[in-house]
Amino acid sequence: MIHVLHGDIVSASELGSLTTMKDGYLVSEDGRIVGVFSKLPERFRSAEIEDHSGTLILQGFADMHLHAPQYPMVGMGMDLQLLDWLERYTYRTEAAFADPVYARKIYRQLITELLRNGTTRVCMFASLHTDATLILMEELEEAGICGFVGKVNMDRNAKPYYQETLEQSKSETLRWLHESERFSKVKPILTPRFTPSCSNELMEWLGNIARERNLPVQSHLSENIQEIEWVRQLHPDTERYWESYAKYGLFKPGTLMAHCVYSDEVERKAMRDLGVTVVHCGDSNINVRSGVAPIRRMINEGMKVVVGSDIAGGAQISMLQVMQTAIRVSKVRNMETGEPFLTAAEAYYLGTSAGAEYFGDKPGFAEGNPLHAVVIDDASFPNTDSLSMEERLERAIYRATPSEIRAVYSEGRRIR
Ligand code: GUN
Ligand code: FE
Repeated sequence: MIHVLHGDIVSASELGSLTTMKDGYLVSEDGRIVGVFSKLPERFRSAEIEDHSGTLILQGFADMHLHAPQYPMVGMGMDLQLLDWLERYTYRTEAAFADPVYARKIYRQLITELLRNGTTRVCMFASLHTDATLILMEELEEAGICGFVGKVNMDRNAKPYYQETLEQSKSETLRWLHESERFSKVKPILTPRFTPSCSNELMEWLGNIARERNLPVQSHLSENIQEIEWVRQLHPDTERYWESYAKYGLFKPGTLMAHCVYSDEVERKAMRDLGVTVVHCGDSNINVRSGVAPIRRMINEGMKVVVGSDIAGGAQISMLQVMQTAIRVSKVRNMETGEPFLTAAEAYYLGTSAGAEYFGDKPGFAEGNPLHAVVIDDASFPNTDSLSMEERLERAIYRATPSEIRAVYSEGRRIR
C-alpha cells in the first residue's frame, strides 16, 4: 500500500547537516520509505495523501536507554547519587513489578506517554521479573513501538526482596527468551544490570548465551566514581570497567553501554574497536551528579553514540527534551574544557538517525528504511512562515510539547 505524507520535511542524513524540504511529499510503500519528493510523482497520484502542510515532519525518535519499571519514580529521589539512589529508591520501586496487574497498569501509562511524545523506538530495561517483562513487550507490540527489551539479570549486591539466585536468573532468562519468540516488533536484549549486580558465573553464562543465540547486550559502564571503584574491587584482575564485560564476551558489536562518563582513552578505544555503542543520558548525568560524559569528544573519535532518557535517573520522557539537554550539557563541558558543543542539528541526528542505525537503518528518510515519523505543528509559535526550516527544527527541540505533536508513525502505520 502506498502512503503519502505532505508537509515541511526535516531529516538528518548525516551528523550536523539537515536535509529539508518545505511542502514536500514523503512516500512509503508497505511501511518502507520510497523517497522524499518536491512534487508528487505521477505514479503516486492515486494514493491517499495525509495533509500535514504547514507543519514539520520529523524522523521518529529513538530512546536508546530507559528503565520502564522506574516510571513511577520519575522526578523523585534526585538528591541521591547513584549507589544510594539504587539502594534506597530504585530497587524498591522495581520490586513492585512482581505484581503483573500493577505492571500492566504502569506500563500502559508509560507507553501512552511515549506515544504522546513521538518515541517510536526504544531500548528498555525491564525489571528482573519475567512475567512483567513479557507484559511490557506485549504492550509495546500492541502500541506499535519497536525495539529491544531486557529482563534484568541481578544475582548479587542488591536486596533480599529484589535479587535472583544464579539458578533463577538462568532459568528465568531462558523462559523469557522462549516466550519472547512470539513478538515481532519487540525483541529481547540481554541485560546484566551492571557488573556489581552480576556474579562472574552469571556474566559467563550470559556471554555464552549472547554468542550461541547471537543476542545483543545492554548495560551500564563507568557512570559514577564509587561504582568504578567497586568494580575494581570485584574484578581485581582488570584495569578498567569495560574488561569486566569483555572477559565474558559481553563487549561486542551490538552492545549498548549507558553513560561512559569516565571512560578514558583506552576504554573509549576498546569500545570503538569492538563496535560498542555509547548511550549518552545527559539529564541523568546531572540529576544523580555522576558527571557529564564527553560526548562531543567521543563522536570526534569515531565512536558510535546514541542518546537515551535513562528514566528515572533522567526525568525527561520527551526525546526533544533529551536532545535539548544533550546540547545543554555539552555546553557545560564546552565552558569547562573548551571542547566543542553539540548543535541542534547534531542533537537531532543523535535522537533519530543514530538510534535508527542501531536497528539497521540508513540515516535520514532514506529509501528502504521503515517509515518512522513525527508530525509537529509549530504554527502556534510566532513567525513560523518567515523562519528557515533549520530554525523551526531548533525551536521545536526547545519548545514543542505533546500538544504540538499531531501524528506519529511507526513502521508506516499511524500509532498516534
Ligand atoms: N546502574 C545500575 N543500575 C542503574 C540504573 O537503574 N540507573 C542508572 N542510571 N545507572 C544504573
Ligand atoms: Fe540506566
